[in-house]
Amino acid sequence: MKTIAIANQKGGVGKTTTATNLAAGLAIRGYKTLLIDLDSQCNATFTFLDQSLIKTTLADVLVGYQERPSLIDAIYETHIEGLDIAPSHIRLALLERSVQIEEHYRLKDSLESLEAYDFAVIDCPPSLGMTLTQALLASSHAIVPVAAQFYPLEGVVDLTSTMQATRRLNPSLSILGYLMTYFDGRNRICGEALAKMQEMFDGLVFETVIRTNVKLQTAPSLRKSIFEHAPDSHGSKDYDSLTDEVLQRLKMDSSLRLVQEAG
Ligand SMILES: Nc1ncnc2c1ncn2[C@@H]1O[C@H](COP(=O)(O)OP(=O)(O)OP(=O)(O)O)[C@@H](O)[C@H]1O
Ligand SMILES: [Mg+2]
Repeated sequence: MKTIAIANQKGGVGKTTTATNLAAGLAIRGYKTLLIDLDSQCNATFTFLDQSLIKTTLADVLVGYQERPSLIDAIYETHIEGLDIAPSHIRLALLERSVQIEEHYRLKDSLESLEAYDFAVIDCPPSLGMTLTQALLASSHAIVPVAAQFYPLEGVVDLTSTMQATRRLNPSLSILGYLMTYFDGRNRICGEALAKMQEMFDGLVFETVIRTNVKLQTAPSLRKSIFEHAPDSHGSKDYDSLTDEVLQRLKMDSSLRLVQEAG
């Protein structure tokens, strides 16, 4: 199983949008995929699940010292064939308080007990804390969404250092790519931000850029991925292209479209 953390400590850069739509894109290509919502804001969870149906969450699985259920008990099917989700809960914020080393490996250990998945995609919270560490310890790859805005890319450098530090404990972690989001080709600042990122992370920046597209904002409130909500939109085309590029970088077949054509 490939485990991909979608990480950036900066808020609102498109982590959840990327996690949910990449996970859907992989499932649509026939890869059995588990979306893991590690953010106590629960945005990925509510993109796919009705709150009233959720009984066990990742907070039950990962937090505390009481007897904890196993991850399999916190996995729910979504309406997309091949896509399951492990939901979050506000109480998952307590993961930040975990101090013992054993606690930091709980997600990794839980994922190792699962067999059925080709991919796990982790939606990370906007912080550089223990929850991110836990995600990176459990991951084989990371994707870093970066918004195409005018600000120094220093935050991304801090994140890259965190990842390098984590590699001492998890040598199999690698950065699969940096992904430019909120891209607007008519805006000079966006072009400059992309050029700067390419200069800093040579070869690691995805060729796909995610353009600003309002359909990406409306899809979650309808509990849909972009592929179902607006199949002809820029958002759908960009996340389709990202899914292919991710599979190419992993040297996996991106030509399959077994399960369903969205619509
Ligand atoms: N390419 C895009 N075009 C337009 N809107 C977008 C795009 N990507 C994300 N959004 C919207 O911007 C908001 C923030 O995106 P998202 O929730 O994916 O970011 P995030 O990094 O997960 O945020 P947080 O750090 O709070 O978890 C959401 O309302 C989302 O629908
Ligand atoms: Mg988010």
